[in-house]
Amino acid sequence: MPQINTAQSDVRKTAIYIGADGENSIRITQALSLLYDVNREEPGPVSWQSTSADLVLLEAVGKDGINAVSLIPAIRDAVGPVPIFAIIDNRDGDILFAAIKRGIQGFIEMPTDLPNILSIIHEERQRSHGTFSGKICSFFSLKGGVGTTTISVNVAEQLAFYTGGSTILLDLHMPLGDTSLYINPEKQARYTINDFILNINNMDDDLIDSSIARHESGLRYLGLPQNLAELENVTDVNIKMVLTLLRHHYNYVIIDCASDFSPITLACLDESSTIMLVSEPSLSSMRAARVAYDTCRQLGYAAERLKLIFNRKTSQGAEFISELLDALGIPVVAEIENNYLIFLGALQKGKLLEEFAPESIANMEMRKIAAMLLPGNVEHDPAISFKKKTGWLATLFGSKS
Ligand SMILES: Nc1ncnc2c1ncn2[C@@H]1O[C@H](COP(=O)(O)OP(=O)(O)OP(=O)(O)O)[C@@H](O)[C@H]1O
Ligand SMILES: [Mg+2]
Repeated sequence: MPQINTAQSDVRKTAIYIGADGENSIRITQALSLLYDVNREEPGPVSWQSTSADLVLLEAVGKDGINAVSLIPAIRDAVGPVPIFAIIDNRDGDILFAAIKRGIQGFIEMPTDLPNILSIIHEERQRSHGTFSGKICSFFSLKGGVGTTTISVNVAEQLAFYTGGSTILLDLHMPLGDTSLYINPEKQARYTINDFILNINNMDDDLIDSSIARHESGLRYLGLPQNLAELENVTDVNIKMVLTLLRHHYNYVIIDCASDFSPITLACLDESSTIMLVSEPSLSSMRAARVAYDTCRQLGYAAERLKLIFNRKTSQGAEFISELLDALGIPVVAEIENNYLIFLGALQKGKLLEEFAPESIANMEMRKIAAMLLPGNVEHDPAISFKKKTGWLATLFGSKS
Protein backbone atom coordinates (compact mmCIF):
# COMPACT_ATOMS: atom_id res chain seq x y z
CA MET A 1 0.00 0.00 0.00
CA PRO A 2 1.37 3.47 -0.80
CA GLN A 3 2.43 5.79 1.97
CA ILE A 4 -0.13 8.48 2.54
CA ASN A 5 0.82 11.98 3.47
CA THR A 6 -1.42 13.16 6.30
CA ALA A 7 0.39 16.44 6.75
CA GLN A 8 -1.20 18.19 3.76
CA SER A 9 -3.28 20.42 5.96
CA ASP A 10 -4.05 20.88 9.62
CA VAL A 11 -7.75 20.33 9.09
CA ARG A 12 -8.12 17.86 6.26
CA LYS A 13 -7.78 14.20 7.10
CA THR A 14 -7.10 11.12 5.08
CA ALA A 15 -9.27 8.05 4.76
CA ILE A 16 -8.58 4.76 3.05
CA TYR A 17 -11.49 3.15 1.25
CA ILE A 18 -10.90 -0.56 0.76
CA GLY A 19 -13.28 -1.86 -1.87
CA ALA A 20 -14.23 -1.98 -5.51
CA ASP A 21 -14.06 1.05 -7.77
CA GLY A 22 -17.82 1.38 -8.02
CA GLU A 23 -20.86 3.36 -7.04
CA ASN A 24 -20.31 2.96 -3.27
CA SER A 25 -16.75 4.24 -3.33
CA ILE A 26 -17.70 7.21 -5.51
CA ARG A 27 -20.68 8.21 -3.36
CA ILE A 28 -18.76 7.81 -0.11
CA THR A 29 -15.76 9.77 -1.41
CA GLN A 30 -18.15 12.59 -2.32
CA ALA A 31 -19.97 12.45 1.01
CA LEU A 32 -16.70 12.66 2.96
CA SER A 33 -15.07 15.27 0.74
CA LEU A 34 -15.74 18.12 3.17
CA LEU A 35 -13.25 16.70 5.67
CA TYR A 36 -11.41 13.78 4.12
CA ASP A 37 -9.18 12.99 1.18
CA VAL A 38 -10.13 9.44 0.31
CA ASN A 39 -7.66 7.00 -1.26
CA ARG A 40 -9.10 3.79 -2.61
CA GLU A 41 -7.39 0.43 -2.23
CA GLU A 42 -8.34 -2.81 -3.91
CA PRO A 43 -9.61 -5.48 -1.53
CA GLY A 44 -8.19 -8.97 -1.63
CA PRO A 45 -5.09 -10.77 -0.48
CA VAL A 46 -2.88 -7.70 -0.32
CA SER A 47 0.29 -7.75 1.74
CA TRP A 48 -0.58 -4.80 3.97
CA GLN A 49 2.25 -2.50 4.86
CA SER A 50 2.32 -0.07 7.71
CA THR A 51 0.57 3.11 6.65
CA SER A 52 -0.97 6.19 8.21
CA ALA A 53 -4.51 7.43 7.86
CA ASP A 54 -7.22 8.87 10.08
CA LEU A 55 -9.98 6.53 9.05
CA VAL A 56 -10.47 3.23 7.21
CA LEU A 57 -13.66 2.34 5.36
CA LEU A 58 -13.97 -1.31 4.48
CA GLU A 59 -16.55 -2.28 1.88
CA ALA A 60 -18.36 -5.40 3.10
CA VAL A 61 -21.30 -5.61 0.75
CA GLY A 62 -22.95 -8.49 -1.07
CA LYS A 63 -21.65 -12.04 -0.99
CA ASP A 64 -18.01 -10.91 -0.65
CA GLY A 65 -18.79 -9.06 2.57
CA ILE A 66 -17.69 -11.90 4.81
CA ASN A 67 -14.31 -12.14 3.00
CA ALA A 68 -13.86 -8.40 3.36
CA VAL A 69 -14.28 -8.42 7.15
CA SER A 70 -11.73 -11.22 7.43
CA LEU A 71 -9.17 -8.57 6.36
CA ILE A 72 -9.75 -6.50 9.51
CA PRO A 73 -6.82 -7.94 11.55
CA ALA A 74 -4.35 -7.30 8.69
CA ILE A 75 -5.73 -3.79 8.22
CA ARG A 76 -5.50 -3.16 11.96
CA ASP A 77 -1.84 -4.26 11.91
CA ALA A 78 -1.14 -1.85 9.07
CA VAL A 79 -2.97 1.24 10.31
CA GLY A 80 -2.73 0.89 14.09
CA PRO A 81 -5.44 2.26 16.39
CA VAL A 82 -7.37 4.03 13.64
CA PRO A 83 -11.17 3.66 13.48
CA ILE A 84 -12.29 1.07 10.93
CA PHE A 85 -15.88 1.28 9.68
CA ALA A 86 -17.57 -1.40 7.58
CA ILE A 87 -19.71 -0.29 4.65
CA ILE A 88 -22.65 -2.71 4.54
CA ASP A 89 -25.77 -2.94 2.40
CA ASN A 90 -27.84 -5.09 4.75
CA ARG A 91 -27.67 -6.25 8.34
CA ASP A 92 -26.39 -9.72 7.56
CA GLY A 93 -25.88 -11.35 10.98
CA ASP A 94 -22.82 -13.32 9.83
CA ILE A 95 -21.05 -10.20 8.60
CA LEU A 96 -21.98 -8.12 11.67
CA PHE A 97 -20.90 -10.98 13.91
CA ALA A 98 -17.53 -11.48 12.15
CA ALA A 99 -16.80 -7.74 12.02
CA ILE A 100 -17.60 -7.10 15.70
CA LYS A 101 -15.55 -10.12 16.70
CA ARG A 102 -12.58 -8.58 14.90
CA GLY A 103 -13.05 -5.22 16.61
CA ILE A 104 -14.77 -3.04 13.99
CA GLN A 105 -15.54 0.48 15.22
CA GLY A 106 -18.92 0.89 13.54
CA PHE A 107 -21.11 0.28 10.50
CA ILE A 108 -22.28 2.52 7.70
CA GLU A 109 -25.33 1.11 6.02
CA MET A 110 -25.77 2.03 2.35
CA PRO A 111 -27.64 3.94 1.13
CA THR A 112 -29.55 4.98 4.28
CA ASP A 113 -26.58 6.26 6.29
CA LEU A 114 -24.92 8.11 3.40
CA PRO A 115 -26.42 11.56 4.11
CA ASN A 116 -25.24 11.30 7.75
CA ILE A 117 -21.92 9.60 7.20
CA LEU A 118 -19.78 12.36 8.71
CA SER A 119 -21.87 12.62 11.85
CA ILE A 120 -21.96 8.83 12.25
CA ILE A 121 -18.17 8.66 12.10
CA HIS A 122 -17.84 11.66 14.39
CA GLU A 123 -20.34 10.33 16.95
CA GLU A 124 -18.76 6.89 16.99
CA ARG A 125 -15.38 8.41 17.67
CA GLN A 126 -16.81 10.51 20.47
CA ARG A 127 -18.60 7.48 21.86
CA SER A 128 -15.40 5.51 21.97
CA HIS A 129 -13.96 8.37 23.98
CA GLY A 130 -16.97 8.21 26.26
CA THR A 131 -18.10 11.80 25.80
CA PHE A 132 -21.28 11.56 23.80
CA SER A 133 -24.53 9.65 23.62
CA GLY A 134 -24.54 5.91 23.06
CA LYS A 135 -22.67 5.57 26.31
CA ILE A 136 -22.49 2.16 27.91
CA CYS A 137 -22.19 1.91 31.69
CA SER A 138 -21.81 -1.38 33.56
CA PHE A 139 -22.70 -1.87 37.22
CA PHE A 140 -20.55 -4.62 38.63
CA SER A 141 -19.54 -6.38 41.83
CA LEU A 142 -17.67 -9.63 42.28
CA LYS A 143 -19.63 -10.14 45.47
CA GLY A 144 -23.38 -10.68 45.27
CA GLY A 145 -26.07 -9.03 47.37
CA VAL A 146 -24.43 -5.62 47.65
CA GLY A 147 -27.12 -3.65 45.80
CA THR A 148 -25.83 -3.74 42.21
CA THR A 149 -29.28 -4.40 40.72
CA THR A 150 -31.06 -1.87 42.93
CA ILE A 151 -28.64 0.89 41.99
CA SER A 152 -28.41 0.07 38.27
CA VAL A 153 -32.20 0.05 37.88
CA ASN A 154 -32.74 3.31 39.77
CA VAL A 155 -29.88 5.11 38.00
CA ALA A 156 -31.17 3.84 34.63
CA GLU A 157 -34.58 5.29 35.42
CA GLN A 158 -33.03 8.66 36.25
CA LEU A 159 -31.14 8.60 32.95
CA ALA A 160 -34.40 7.80 31.16
CA PHE A 161 -35.79 11.07 32.58
CA TYR A 162 -32.71 13.05 31.59
CA THR A 163 -32.72 11.64 28.05
CA GLY A 164 -36.44 11.68 27.37
CA GLY A 165 -36.62 7.89 27.31
CA SER A 166 -33.44 7.23 25.36
CA THR A 167 -31.99 4.84 27.94
CA ILE A 168 -32.10 1.06 28.04
CA LEU A 169 -31.42 -1.29 30.93
CA LEU A 170 -29.84 -4.61 30.00
CA ASP A 171 -29.96 -7.45 32.51
CA LEU A 172 -26.99 -9.75 32.05
CA HIS A 173 -26.88 -11.21 35.52
CA MET A 174 -26.92 -14.75 34.17
CA PRO A 175 -28.77 -17.03 34.51
CA LEU A 176 -31.85 -15.46 36.13
CA GLY A 177 -31.44 -11.72 36.46
CA ASP A 178 -33.40 -9.73 39.04
CA THR A 179 -34.17 -6.49 37.26
CA SER A 180 -37.63 -7.76 36.27
CA LEU A 181 -38.55 -7.70 39.98
CA TYR A 182 -38.19 -3.92 39.79
CA ILE A 183 -39.20 -3.19 36.22
CA ASN A 184 -41.82 -5.82 35.56
CA PRO A 185 -43.26 -7.01 38.87
CA GLU A 186 -46.44 -8.26 37.13
CA LYS A 187 -44.27 -10.70 35.16
CA GLN A 188 -45.75 -9.80 31.78
CA ALA A 189 -44.24 -11.62 28.77
CA ARG A 190 -41.61 -9.29 27.36
CA TYR A 191 -39.18 -9.31 24.46
CA THR A 192 -35.95 -10.78 25.86
CA ILE A 193 -32.28 -10.49 24.97
CA ASN A 194 -32.60 -13.88 23.30
CA ASP A 195 -35.48 -12.62 21.10
CA PHE A 196 -33.37 -9.60 20.20
CA ILE A 197 -30.43 -11.79 19.19
CA LEU A 198 -32.63 -14.11 17.10
CA ASN A 199 -34.13 -11.14 15.25
CA ILE A 200 -30.98 -9.09 14.94
CA ASN A 201 -30.95 -9.23 11.14
CA ASN A 202 -34.34 -7.52 11.00
CA MET A 203 -33.64 -4.94 13.70
CA ASP A 204 -34.36 -1.59 12.22
CA ASP A 205 -35.25 1.48 14.29
CA ASP A 206 -38.99 0.77 14.09
CA LEU A 207 -38.68 -2.82 15.27
CA ILE A 208 -36.40 -1.82 18.12
CA ASP A 209 -38.93 0.80 19.23
CA SER A 210 -41.94 -1.46 18.95
CA SER A 211 -40.50 -4.65 20.39
CA ILE A 212 -38.50 -3.49 23.40
CA ALA A 213 -40.44 -3.11 26.64
CA ARG A 214 -41.00 0.35 28.06
CA HIS A 215 -41.35 1.08 31.76
CA GLU A 216 -43.81 3.82 32.74
CA SER A 217 -40.85 6.12 33.40
CA GLY A 218 -39.84 5.79 29.72
CA LEU A 219 -36.94 3.46 30.53
CA ARG A 220 -36.46 0.68 27.96
CA TYR A 221 -35.66 -2.75 29.18
CA LEU A 222 -34.22 -6.05 27.87
CA GLY A 223 -34.14 -8.95 30.29
CA LEU A 224 -32.97 -12.53 30.24
CA PRO A 225 -35.24 -15.33 28.99
CA GLN A 226 -37.13 -17.38 31.60
CA ASN A 227 -36.38 -20.55 29.67
CA LEU A 228 -32.77 -21.38 30.52
CA ALA A 229 -32.32 -23.36 27.29
CA GLU A 230 -32.57 -20.04 25.42
CA LEU A 231 -29.47 -18.77 27.20
CA GLU A 232 -27.23 -20.61 24.78
CA ASN A 233 -27.64 -17.71 22.34
CA VAL A 234 -26.50 -15.23 24.97
CA THR A 235 -22.80 -15.39 24.16
CA ASP A 236 -20.06 -12.78 24.44
CA VAL A 237 -19.93 -12.17 20.70
CA ASN A 238 -23.71 -11.87 20.42
CA ILE A 239 -23.75 -9.47 23.35
CA LYS A 240 -21.15 -7.25 21.64
CA MET A 241 -23.40 -7.23 18.60
CA VAL A 242 -26.45 -6.33 20.72
CA LEU A 243 -24.50 -3.52 22.40
CA THR A 244 -23.34 -2.14 19.06
CA LEU A 245 -26.93 -1.91 17.86
CA LEU A 246 -28.37 -0.60 21.12
CA ARG A 247 -25.87 2.20 21.46
CA HIS A 248 -26.73 3.29 17.95
CA HIS A 249 -30.29 3.61 19.07
CA TYR A 250 -30.18 4.83 22.68
CA ASN A 251 -28.22 7.54 24.46
CA TYR A 252 -27.44 5.24 27.39
CA VAL A 253 -27.13 1.48 27.78
CA ILE A 254 -27.02 0.51 31.45
CA ILE A 255 -25.96 -3.05 32.25
CA ASP A 256 -26.58 -5.03 35.42
CA CYS A 257 -23.62 -7.43 35.18
CA ALA A 258 -23.15 -10.86 36.73
CA SER A 259 -20.79 -11.22 39.70
CA ASP A 260 -18.02 -12.87 37.69
CA PHE A 261 -15.44 -12.29 34.97
CA SER A 262 -17.18 -14.57 32.46
CA PRO A 263 -16.71 -13.81 28.74
CA ILE A 264 -20.14 -12.13 28.72
CA THR A 265 -19.26 -9.84 31.61
CA LEU A 266 -15.94 -9.05 29.94
CA ALA A 267 -17.76 -8.22 26.69
CA CYS A 268 -19.84 -5.69 28.66
CA LEU A 269 -16.90 -4.21 30.53
CA ASP A 270 -14.89 -3.95 27.29
CA GLU A 271 -17.60 -1.83 25.71
CA SER A 272 -18.31 0.31 28.77
CA SER A 273 -16.98 3.82 29.04
CA THR A 274 -17.79 3.74 32.77
CA ILE A 275 -17.63 0.75 35.09
CA MET A 276 -19.40 1.34 38.41
CA LEU A 277 -18.04 -1.04 41.02
CA VAL A 278 -20.51 -1.51 43.86
CA SER A 279 -19.46 -2.26 47.41
CA GLU A 280 -20.89 -2.18 50.94
CA PRO A 281 -19.35 -1.83 54.38
CA SER A 282 -18.02 -5.35 54.75
CA LEU A 283 -14.46 -6.52 54.44
CA SER A 284 -15.35 -9.22 51.94
CA SER A 285 -17.25 -6.87 49.66
CA MET A 286 -14.52 -4.24 49.80
CA ARG A 287 -11.89 -6.84 49.05
CA ALA A 288 -14.03 -7.99 46.11
CA ALA A 289 -14.07 -4.38 44.85
CA ARG A 290 -10.27 -4.23 45.15
CA VAL A 291 -9.87 -7.48 43.17
CA ALA A 292 -12.35 -6.29 40.54
CA TYR A 293 -10.52 -2.95 40.21
CA ASP A 294 -7.09 -4.59 39.92
CA THR A 295 -8.33 -7.14 37.40
CA CYS A 296 -9.88 -4.38 35.29
CA ARG A 297 -6.61 -2.47 35.36
CA GLN A 298 -4.69 -5.60 34.38
CA LEU A 299 -7.13 -6.02 31.50
CA GLY A 300 -6.02 -2.59 30.33
CA TYR A 301 -9.08 -0.53 31.30
CA ALA A 302 -8.12 3.06 32.07
CA ALA A 303 -8.40 4.06 35.72
CA GLU A 304 -10.80 6.91 34.78
CA ARG A 305 -13.35 4.36 33.64
CA LEU A 306 -13.53 2.75 37.08
CA LYS A 307 -15.61 4.28 39.89
CA LEU A 308 -16.81 3.01 43.22
CA ILE A 309 -20.33 3.30 44.63
CA PHE A 310 -20.42 2.68 48.33
CA ASN A 311 -23.81 1.28 49.30
CA ARG A 312 -25.53 0.72 52.66
CA LYS A 313 -23.53 3.38 54.40
CA THR A 314 -24.31 3.57 58.15
CA SER A 315 -23.17 5.84 60.94
CA GLN A 316 -22.00 2.82 62.92
CA GLY A 317 -18.24 2.42 62.71
CA ALA A 318 -18.05 5.41 60.35
CA GLU A 319 -14.44 6.08 61.23
CA PHE A 320 -13.36 2.52 60.57
CA ILE A 321 -15.25 2.46 57.26
CA SER A 322 -13.68 5.71 56.22
CA GLU A 323 -10.27 4.21 56.92
CA LEU A 324 -11.21 1.14 54.88
CA LEU A 325 -12.30 3.34 51.99
CA ASP A 326 -9.03 5.25 52.18
CA ALA A 327 -7.20 1.96 52.07
CA LEU A 328 -9.19 0.80 49.08
CA GLY A 329 -7.93 3.74 47.06
CA ILE A 330 -10.69 3.72 44.42
CA PRO A 331 -12.49 7.00 43.59
CA VAL A 332 -15.82 6.98 45.44
CA VAL A 333 -18.53 8.69 43.38
CA ALA A 334 -21.51 8.06 45.63
CA GLU A 335 -22.32 6.86 49.11
CA ILE A 336 -25.82 5.50 49.54
CA GLU A 337 -27.40 5.24 52.96
CA ASN A 338 -28.52 1.96 54.42
CA ASN A 339 -32.30 2.31 54.49
CA TYR A 340 -34.31 -0.89 54.57
CA LEU A 341 -37.62 0.97 54.87
CA ILE A 342 -37.18 2.75 51.58
CA PHE A 343 -35.53 0.02 49.53
CA LEU A 344 -37.68 -2.88 50.70
CA GLY A 345 -40.80 -0.72 50.69
CA ALA A 346 -40.21 0.27 47.06
CA LEU A 347 -39.59 -3.33 46.09
CA GLN A 348 -42.76 -4.51 47.82
CA LYS A 349 -44.83 -1.87 46.05
CA GLY A 350 -43.20 -2.68 42.70
CA LYS A 351 -41.96 0.92 42.39
CA LEU A 352 -38.63 2.58 41.80
CA LEU A 353 -37.30 5.19 44.20
CA GLU A 354 -38.36 8.16 42.09
CA GLU A 355 -41.99 7.12 42.57
CA PHE A 356 -41.75 5.64 46.05
CA ALA A 357 -39.53 8.15 47.84
CA PRO A 358 -38.52 10.91 45.43
CA GLU A 359 -37.15 13.22 48.10
CA SER A 360 -35.19 10.55 49.98
CA ILE A 361 -31.45 10.92 50.38
CA ALA A 362 -31.00 7.60 48.61
CA ASN A 363 -32.90 8.85 45.56
CA MET A 364 -30.81 12.03 45.52
CA GLU A 365 -27.74 9.82 45.26
CA MET A 366 -29.31 7.94 42.32
CA ARG A 367 -29.92 11.28 40.60
CA LYS A 368 -26.36 12.34 41.33
CA ILE A 369 -24.90 9.16 39.81
CA ALA A 370 -27.07 9.58 36.72
CA ALA A 371 -26.09 13.24 36.35
CA MET A 372 -22.45 12.23 36.62
CA LEU A 373 -22.83 10.08 33.52
CA LEU A 374 -24.17 12.95 31.45
CA PRO A 375 -21.75 14.53 28.97
CA GLY A 376 -19.32 16.95 30.49
CA ASN A 377 -19.78 15.80 34.07
CA VAL A 378 -18.00 12.50 34.13
CA GLU A 379 -14.52 13.66 34.82
CA HIS A 380 -15.26 16.94 36.59
CA ASP A 381 -17.74 16.05 39.28
CA PRO A 382 -16.56 17.67 42.51
CA ALA A 383 -18.16 14.79 44.42
CA ILE A 384 -15.48 12.43 43.18
CA SER A 385 -12.93 12.02 45.91
CA PHE A 386 -9.69 10.24 45.30
CA LYS A 387 -8.74 8.45 48.47
CA LYS A 388 -5.14 7.74 49.42
CA LYS A 389 -3.93 4.46 50.87
CA THR A 390 -2.92 4.68 54.52
CA GLY A 391 -1.87 2.44 57.38
CA TRP A 392 -2.20 -1.33 57.70
CA LEU A 393 -5.52 -1.38 55.93
CA ALA A 394 -3.69 -0.41 52.78
CA THR A 395 -1.82 -3.70 53.03
CA LEU A 396 -5.11 -5.52 53.43
CA PHE A 397 -6.32 -4.25 50.07
CA GLY A 398 -2.86 -3.99 48.56
CA SER A 399 -3.01 -3.61 44.78
CA LYS A 400 -1.12 -6.24 42.81
CA SER A 401 -1.36 -4.46 39.50
N1 LIG B 1 -28.79 1.00 50.56
C1 LIG B 1 -29.61 -0.02 50.87
N2 LIG B 1 -30.25 -0.03 52.04
C2 LIG B 1 -31.06 -1.04 52.35
N3 LIG B 1 -31.32 -2.08 51.57
C3 LIG B 1 -30.72 -2.13 50.38
C4 LIG B 1 -29.83 -1.11 49.96
N4 LIG B 1 -29.38 -1.42 48.72
C5 LIG B 1 -29.96 -2.58 48.39
N5 LIG B 1 -30.77 -3.02 49.37
C6 LIG B 1 -31.57 -4.26 49.40
O1 LIG B 1 -30.65 -5.34 49.41
C7 LIG B 1 -31.18 -6.43 48.70
C8 LIG B 1 -30.16 -6.87 47.64
O2 LIG B 1 -30.04 -5.86 46.69
P1 LIG B 1 -29.72 -6.20 45.15
O3 LIG B 1 -30.60 -7.30 44.67
O4 LIG B 1 -29.77 -4.92 44.42
O5 LIG B 1 -28.23 -6.71 45.28
P2 LIG B 1 -27.33 -7.40 44.14
O6 LIG B 1 -25.94 -6.99 44.40
O7 LIG B 1 -27.89 -7.09 42.81
O8 LIG B 1 -27.56 -8.93 44.51
P3 LIG B 1 -27.37 -10.23 43.59
O9 LIG B 1 -25.95 -10.64 43.75
O10 LIG B 1 -28.32 -11.22 44.18
O11 LIG B 1 -27.70 -9.86 42.19
C9 LIG B 1 -32.51 -5.98 48.11
O12 LIG B 1 -33.54 -6.44 48.93
C10 LIG B 1 -32.41 -4.46 48.18
O13 LIG B 1 -33.67 -3.86 48.35
MG1 LIG C 1 -28.44 -8.35 41.23
